[in-house]
Amino acid sequence: MNTLEAIAGRRSIRSFKDKPVPRDLTERVLAATVQAPSGKNQQPWRFVIVEGDKRVEMVRILRESIAKRKEEGADPGSSEWSANVMEQAPVTVFVFNGEAAESNSPGEGGNVVDVQSIGGAIQTMLLAAHDLGLGTLWICDVFYAYRELQAWLGRREQMVAAVSIGYADEAPDPRPRRPWQEVTEWVSG
Ligand SMILES: Cc1cc2nc3c(=O)[nH]c(=O)nc-3n(C[C@H](O)[C@H](O)[C@H](O)COP(=O)(O)O)c2cc1C
Repeated sequence: MNTLEAIAGRRSIRSFKDKPVPRDLTERVLAATVQAPSGKNQQPWRFVIVEGDKRVEMVRILRESIAKRKEEGADPGSSEWSANVMEQAPVTVFVFNGEAAESNSPGEGGNVVDVQSIGGAIQTMLLAAHDLGLGTLWICDVFYAYRELQAWLGRREQMVAAVSIGYADEAPDPRPRRPWQEVTEWVSG
């Protein structure tokens, strides 16, 4: 699989097989992830990986927090569905911004350069996993349990996203994209 094939073939996966991901495969994904470029080569990403029985606690915290947010009047959006995906996926990688220590909300702290670097690293992770035969879901619905998951994971840095990884149990069609021509303007002499 070349790079363009990986880009074209990757999908967000929301149904995973009940099959563990060997540790060495997860390690290969992480080894590829840290090859991503970063502003001033700061490599602001930090990863905390949840697997095995710890997933049960993770999903319980997420579901309880979603219920609390609903009581407070928040729209749960796709968060309940994302919690189901995280329950199924054998591995979930939480991605933190190590340059935004002590940050306590998704919008607070974390300069835009570091967050861009981390976005690039996450995309690198998705493509590497795809190349290795794994499916992924990039998840920001973890923000429904932002403080609760931060506390459970024992991290004070800005939480940027989570990525669930496993063997895909579905093969979704590509989701529509705006044609590049529609979102591109040329400035040429
Ligand atoms: C920053 C970001 C956050 C996302 N958060 C979620 C999420 O919380 N739950 C979910 O089901 N999908 C999430 N997604 C996946 C998108 O829905 C998906 O990438 C988009 O619909 C395009 O589909 P594709 O990835 O299959 O091409 C997220 C994607 C990105 C880039």
